[in-house]
Amino acid sequence: MKKILDIRNLTVSFSSRKGPIPAIKDLSFSVFEGEKLGIVGESGSGKSVCLKSILQLFSSNNLPLIEGEILYLGENLLSCSEKQMQKIRGKEISMIFQDPMASLNPTKKIGEQIIEGFLQHYPEKSKQEAKQYAIEILSLVGIADPEMRFTMYPHNLSGGLRQRVMIAIALSCDPKVILADEPTTALDVTTQAQVISLLKDLQEKRKTTIILVTHDLSVVSSFCDRVLVMYGGKIVESAPLEALFTNPKHPYTKMLLECSSFLSFAQVQKISERTPAKVGCPFWRRCSESMHVCSQKCPSFTEFGEKHNSACWLHDPRSVKELS
Ligand SMILES: Nc1ncnc2c1ncn2[C@@H]1O[C@H](COP(=O)(O)OP(=O)(O)OP(=O)(O)O)[C@@H](O)[C@H]1O
Ligand SMILES: [Mg+2]
Repeated sequence: MKKILDIRNLTVSFSSRKGPIPAIKDLSFSVFEGEKLGIVGESGSGKSVCLKSILQLFSSNNLPLIEGEILYLGENLLSCSEKQMQKIRGKEISMIFQDPMASLNPTKKIGEQIIEGFLQHYPEKSKQEAKQYAIEILSLVGIADPEMRFTMYPHNLSGGLRQRVMIAIALSCDPKVILADEPTTALDVTTQAQVISLLKDLQEKRKTTIILVTHDLSVVSSFCDRVLVMYGGKIVESAPLEALFTNPKHPYTKMLLECSSFLSFAQVQKISERTPAKVGCPFWRRCSESMHVCSQKCPSFTEFGEKHNSACWLHDPRSVKELS
């Protein structure tokens, strides 16, 4: 399979009075064409910063320092000018956010918002053509009576319909990659299942590559081919879906899987309030199996099978030496 995105040694730091604080540290992973990749991890682990870095979607009053490489079909997006990025956002790679109300413009009809993005990338099309296309795309994402909904404002729609509009906007220029940041978190369970099933259908039809960030392991299990587990700004394990659920290797992944069977993710976070360690393995303070070396040095990845890696000293024979 061809690599569509190749993230190499990505470190993103925000400035603070105490100096730069890294939100993600030395992250490296690849995404393959047509893949449905999940990213899981608790609040603050760096999932959103990772997606935002790909499209450089940070607010101008707090721009982070981004180091490393983000290769999209071989081209380093971090070397692109803002003008080049504008051509990539929406047309090549688009993003679906968690809260459609925060991302949709409340003062504009939803049809206008779809047309606007479409015409930006296809200025040669007429307004009438763009309108026709917007109606088609609303219908594609399962919005009944799209002509009528076209003229509505975001506040006239339910949460589920607003999320469908966000997906319609993300799809409108037929991007090769969609970055979906918790697209179902704000929805009730039934609507959540409908939105995931819609994304699945669209992905099958269009072969779009999707990176889905979520807290919800049931969403991961129903959607993804492969999963990255993040903790403290780092990837601690990456595995094909089945291997992750049947043969997890990292203590943090195991904890997530155990807890998710009877507790919500939010409850897990409340139980484990210790912040990630800055030195050594980010998880060592919460890990029941941690050794001296874990607090001293960050572990490197050990391979367990095709596309299955985990970064933990328990897997590394050198840890025994480090201990003695
Ligand atoms: N604009 C910002 N300025 C300063 N720090 C930030 C900013 N955005 C994110 N961070 C920090 O970066 C870290 C990672 O944040 P991020 O939003 O990526 O977490 P997340 O995994 O998406 O969490 P959640 O599940 O709550 O959405 C956090 O410690 C956060 O405080
Ligand atoms: Mg987030």
